[in-house]
Amino acid sequence: MTAPLSREPILVNVALGERTYDIAIGRGLIASLGARAGALKPGARIAIVSDATVAGLHLSAVETALAEAGVDATRIVVAAGEGAKSFAILEQVCDGLLEAKIERGDLVIALGGGVIGDLAGFAAAVLRRGLDFVQVPTTLLAQVDSAVGGKTGINARHGKNLIGAFHQPILVIADTALLDTLPDREFRAGYAEIAKYGLLGDAAFFAWLETHASDVFAGGPGREHAIATSCRMKAAIVARDEREAGERALLNLGHTFGHALEAAVGFSDRLLHGEAVALGMTLAFQFSERLRLLPAPEAERVARHLTGVGLPTRLSEVPGGCPDADRLVDLMAQDKKVRRGRLTFILARGVGAAFIAPDVDPAEVRAFLAEKLAERC
Ligand code: NAD
Ligand code: GLY
Repeated sequence: MTAPLSREPILVNVALGERTYDIAIGRGLIASLGARAGALKPGARIAIVSDATVAGLHLSAVETALAEAGVDATRIVVAAGEGAKSFAILEQVCDGLLEAKIERGDLVIALGGGVIGDLAGFAAAVLRRGLDFVQVPTTLLAQVDSAVGGKTGINARHGKNLIGAFHQPILVIADTALLDTLPDREFRAGYAEIAKYGLLGDAAFFAWLETHASDVFAGGPGREHAIATSCRMKAAIVARDEREAGERALLNLGHTFGHALEAAVGFSDRLLHGEAVALGMTLAFQFSERLRLLPAPEAERVARHLTGVGLPTRLSEVPGGCPDADRLVDLMAQDKKVRRGRLTFILARGVGAAFIAPDVDPAEVRAFLAEKLAERC
């Protein structure tokens, strides 16, 4: 976990015309945050939004780096956890930004996991009709997924991520040293999103993960390679389909089953998002096998790898159990991916060959889930 500082960061560009930005990936990059932010927004004042856990671990290093670059920064710290993606905390962040007199030409820095990135990014999108913001993701999930691509938002009483905006950051700094303090379970959950990129569109990357996962977990050079490869794939997809008119939906591999399972456990710690995605991806490959889209060994290969790194791949692994097939299909039907009673799924013809299936019969899904639930007994 203590590899030396990398000399040059890996740069991945997200090509979006006048909203183009870089993702810088490397160990120790926080030290360059002031210079990088200052180069993009000379003279701007900065507000750092973070959660209490991350702030306790990393905020002073960030503030020191900014001070050394002569940048004036203020801090807004909210409670950690999914509950921060709420109207009440959004109000707290917006009030904090206004009290600090953050103006249109100033800058917001989101320092935290996906919750802080989504919340601070949304506050930046709406405050004064739009402020620039920088993502400094501190979880693996945020470094490979949520900090890239411009989806921001909060949750509503009616569901997750229902209030939001597309608002791209002007820079993403993925300092891999920040992951040293991340609990193992959170790191593993983020790894599910890395595996997702291989499974959805890069068979060679998935094969690489099968042999190099231990290096990714141990913090060797493979970790930065895995993060950069994931970011490159997300950046390319977002550049082609920023608003999810088509291809971007592939990034939802495992999420239709996964979201239903997360909803079934009340979006609680019983199942982290990445854990639900691991289970959901396994189910998506098994469902594809049932539909005769791919041979059984391909689905078995997916489950073997995810199980091997300690992620859940069977419904029996959902702590406290999960509801029956009817309830799970009902939860899917409330998802954003339903159209005129038919479900949209990301299915696969093999590892690295996912596709969007917009017309899946809920009865087929129900029968499949009933079978999978019966297997656990
Ligand atoms: P999170 O932000 O809640 O972070 C998980 C936990 O880890 C928190 O308790 C946090 O305080 C702690 N933590 C963060 N960094 C740490 C560090 N370096 N050391 C120690 N502890 C640390 O959760 P997450 O998994 O990063 O993100 C999940 C959120 O991301 C969800 O709300 C999900 O909807 C959202 N998301 C958004 C997108 C998008 O495209 N915008 C994509 C995927 C997920
Ligand atoms: N995490 C899915 C997306 O960004 O589209």
